Order: sequence, then C-alpha cells, then structure tokens
Amino acid sequence: MLTTKLFLGFGVFVLGSLSFENPFSQDNYIDLNTETAVVSKLQSPGKEIYADFCMQCHGANGKGDTKNFPPLDGSDWLKTKRNQSIAAVKFGQSGPIMVNTKKYNSSMPAMGLTDQEVADVMNYIMTSWSNKQTKVVTEKEVAAIKK
Ligand code: HEC
Repeated sequence: MLTTKLFLGFGVFVLGSLSFENPFSQDNYIDLNTETAVVSKLQSPGKEIYADFCMQCHGANGKGDTKNFPPLDGSDWLKTKRNQSIAAVKFGQSGPIMVNTKKYNSSMPAMGLTDQEVADVMNYIMTSWSNKQTKVVTEKEVAAIKK
C-alpha cells in the first residue's frame, strides 16, 4: 500500500515537472500580435550590444551627458537622419553636429560591429526610452550604407 502511494506520488511529480519543462507548452510562444512583444523582439539582440558598446558614453537611459555625448533618447538626429545615424554607428562620427538644438563637436570611434550587429543595436536604440521608430533596420540596409 505504502509503495503504491509512493509510486503514485512519484508519478505526479514526474508529470508535474514534465508539464513545467514541456517545450511545446503554449507559454514558450511569443504572441507577435501584441505591440510590446514586437518591440521586445526587436530590442533583445541589440540590448546587449548597447550595454557592451554604447552605454559608457550615451548612458543606460540614453540621455548622454549633455556635454560631450549627445542623447539618443528623443534625438532628432537619430529620428530624421536614418542613413547618417547608421553610418555613424558603422564608421564612427566626428565633427560638429546639432542634436536637439544643442551643438556637439566630439568624436565617436568606429566600434567594429558587423552589419547585423549595427542593425540590431539601431533597432534597440530606435525603439527604446521614448523612441518609437517602426521601420526595422535590416542587415541589408546597413550593408548598403557607404562611408
Ligand atoms: C566613446 C564614446 C561613445 C561610444 C562608445 C558611442 N558613442 Fe555614439 N556618439 C558619441 C559622440 C561623441 C557623438 C557625437 C559625435 C560628434 O560630435 O560628431 C555620438 C553620436 C552618436 C549618434 C548620432 C547623434 C545622436 O545623438 O543621435 C548616434 C545615433 C550614436 N552616437 C549611437 C551610438 C551607438 C548605437 C553606440 C554603440 C554601438 C555608440 N553611439 C557608442 C560617443 C560615443
């Protein structure tokens, strides 16, 4: 009797852990119909690149330092100069630029990212903080941007 109970208990335990780890469980599918899911899917690969390569200058909040490093959050440059923004991240950017009516004249090095990484990080910064760009940057688009 006791062995049957133990056996049953074990069975329930195994079933419980099976359903928890079931790779076909509904929970593992992202519902792409919701806007937040699309944004987080766009953001995920670029988020790590941002932390590794950009955050030190532009800040975790994307606000820059208001002195040498321009903001990315709410940047009119990023919003209106799509190709130049991609080029800046791909090849580096220096010399005087205006971002949100403030002049910057400093320099950002080229960071040696692949075209795919540039696309990923662009998609991250363009959809983070208050930024809400909807046209996805693709690797192909980055590859076509020349110096
Ligand atoms: C060493 C500091 C530094 C790092 C690291 C850096 N930037 Fe910059 N970034 C700058 C500076 C300085 C400028 C302005 C350059 C100028 O004055 O011409 C700039 C300008 C920009 C601009 C255009 C202006 C704006 O604010 O919209 C974008 C877009 C940008 N950076 C994105 C990135 C991304 C994405 C990364 C990471 C892949 C990155 N930066 C890493 C310093 C940096």
